[in-house]
Amino acid sequence: MSSRLPVSSQQGLHPRLERTVLRHCRSSWQQPIRQHSRQAFDQVASLAEHAPALVLDAGCGVAESTAHLARQHPDALVIGIDKSSHRLARARDLPDNACLVRAELGDFWRLARQAGWRLREHALYYPNPWPKATHLLRRWHGHPVFPAMLALGGRLELRSNFEVYALEFARAVELTLSMRPEVVSFQAVDPISPFERKYALSGHPLYRVIVNLD
Ligand SMILES: C[S@@+](CC[C@H](N)C(=O)[O-])C[C@H]1O[C@@H](n2cnc3c(N)ncnc32)[C@H](O)[C@@H]1O
Repeated sequence: MSSRLPVSSQQGLHPRLERTVLRHCRSSWQQPIRQHSRQAFDQVASLAEHAPALVLDAGCGVAESTAHLARQHPDALVIGIDKSSHRLARARDLPDNACLVRAELGDFWRLARQAGWRLREHALYYPNPWPKATHLLRRWHGHPVFPAMLALGGRLELRSNFEVYALEFARAVELTLSMRPEVVSFQAVDPISPFERKYALSGHPLYRVIVNLD
């Protein structure tokens, strides 16, 4: 099935990006944690305690990439997180070292931070692009949870078919941590997830940002 490129009136970085990211760095986000996210976190936290290493697949969808990461990191506990129970229910062939959690990422990341988690790997593959300029705060780098997400450490990889998203993400990392990761365009020869496959088949340019947070 072919897919359309994100359509945005925004050219280049959002004019309020810097102000927004710096505001979020100065204050910690206080919105109450949802009960279902807390319960989901508590369940996985007991597994995480005994795991030699942790990998998160944030916004995993049907968890194809979670399975791939679990095969790549056989000694780690690989946790796929998504808010959609419908998508999670379509997961197939998960290795034993993978598990799936239905939770809001804005909650899960804060709970992981409070629990002192340090990740080995953190995948953020094709988050919803929110291409309208008015939706800056819904993009993860414009969201108040962004500093807590970066604080989890590890090798963080964002993938997107929306170049503005990747460029803003890299700039937001720089504003938060004073190091600027590169935005690299790449070809998905062997797609890691359904969205990557769909975008690759539609001929979209794809972008990745890799940040080493240790
Ligand atoms: C565009 S899909 C990408 C799915 C998958 N990573 C892939 O590449 O095929 C974005 C996913 O993020 C999930 N998502 C969006 N906002 C979320 C949130 N606040 N908390 C948890 N999951 C969220 C959606 O349910 C959806 O499955």
